[in-house]
Amino acid sequence: MNRRKVLKGIGLGIAGLPLISAKAAKPSLSDYHSSFDQDQTTDEKFWKKFRKDFYDVPQDFINLENGYFGVQPRPVYEAYIKNVERVNVNSSRYLRTKYSSDFKQIINKLSTFAGIASEEALITRNATEALNIAIQGLDWEEGDEVILSGQDYFSMIETFEMLEKQKGISIKRIKIPLLPESDEEILACYEAAVTPKTKGILVTHMIHLTGQIMPVKKIADRFKPQGIEIIVDAAHSFAQVDFKLKDLGADFVGVNLHKWFGNPLGAGLLYVNSNRVKDLKPLYGDRIEDVDDITKLGHFGTLSVPTVITIPDALAFNQTVTIPKKEKRLRHLQNYWTSRANDIPKVTITTPLDPTRSCAIASFKIEGMETKEVIAKLYEKAKVFTVIRYLEDQQVVRVTPSLYNLTSELDTLLDGIKSIT
Ligand SMILES: Cc1ncc(COP(=O)(O)O)c(C=O)c1O
Repeated sequence: MNRRKVLKGIGLGIAGLPLISAKAAKPSLSDYHSSFDQDQTTDEKFWKKFRKDFYDVPQDFINLENGYFGVQPRPVYEAYIKNVERVNVNSSRYLRTKYSSDFKQIINKLSTFAGIASEEALITRNATEALNIAIQGLDWEEGDEVILSGQDYFSMIETFEMLEKQKGISIKRIKIPLLPESDEEILACYEAAVTPKTKGILVTHMIHLTGQIMPVKKIADRFKPQGIEIIVDAAHSFAQVDFKLKDLGADFVGVNLHKWFGNPLGAGLLYVNSNRVKDLKPLYGDRIEDVDDITKLGHFGTLSVPTVITIPDALAFNQTVTIPKKEKRLRHLQNYWTSRANDIPKVTITTPLDPTRSCAIASFKIEGMETKEVIAKLYEKAKVFTVIRYLEDQQVVRVTPSLYNLTSELDTLLDGIKSIT
């Protein structure tokens, strides 16, 4: 039976699971198109098949550390391998003839997905690079103040520390509440730090340490009208939770594509509001004279071309699952373990559990135990892989399930926690 005939025969079975003929061994994304029309959030049978169809998972441990970078779904990984081969075989001929038109299309598709204009998008190698281009591109002067939180990502903090030494800017560090009662409580922290000299605020949309989602739009709406630059680090929120980059209300947003978007390692995206491109000086030397041309900021040399040309495949995967459905499932997985872990004596969840304030990532600590020891014991006893994260005044275990994780694996995590408390 040829593939077309097999696909024709595919229908939806119970629970919306695609029925795939035993002979059509390889499921494709299109088999799943209508599956996501239904609400599959809590249907473990569905996700078990989804995992089998699309992911290669380790057999000897349970990976609950999906915050560093995302495991590529199989269709993306396979496209990437083909692209590595294609670029290697066709070599500079591909780069010198076809690549630039492919690249334009990739920018167009990615910008539409991200909710920005293609003239506002710059593909970078990662979020650190994207954010450095924005941060170092702004015109800082001696005495300018920037507000950072102790929970912002260390690389961005270090960039500002460098500017502090080089340009004499002054950093004001604020403490964001771990479990805020309201957005106002967070806004008040920034309000208290703002002075007439404040020139910029760095906000991390989803804090990598605990998974807390920050009210970025409210922060931008409150402080941008005062002439303060809002720079957003959306490394973890992009393609994990449902929003468009422009919804954040900031003029500069950096993201990576190798975390929740699921692209191969080595791709990021910088959004700069089209009215503000002129206000960024290129970090890398460039001759482009049009100050409004965002490509003036991207003179960082040859990118990993196979990585870049796999972006449409990662995009297709995200468009099949859809971000709202992904967000719902990821939040369900997080709620599944945090709500149960909350009832285990000595366990404290250090992530706000209000659904507007967290999604896949959450963290915890155990009273009377070193966090390092908790991580080691979880692996030793339950073969569950997690990571330690350092907050200003405490250490926590960060737990990050991905779309391929099942609640049965979270049960193993919970058993592991119980056995060591
Ligand atoms: C909040 C945050 N910002 C930025 C980054 C840096 O991302 P990349 O390594 O892609 O530059 C990370 C990476 O974990 C992060 O968690």
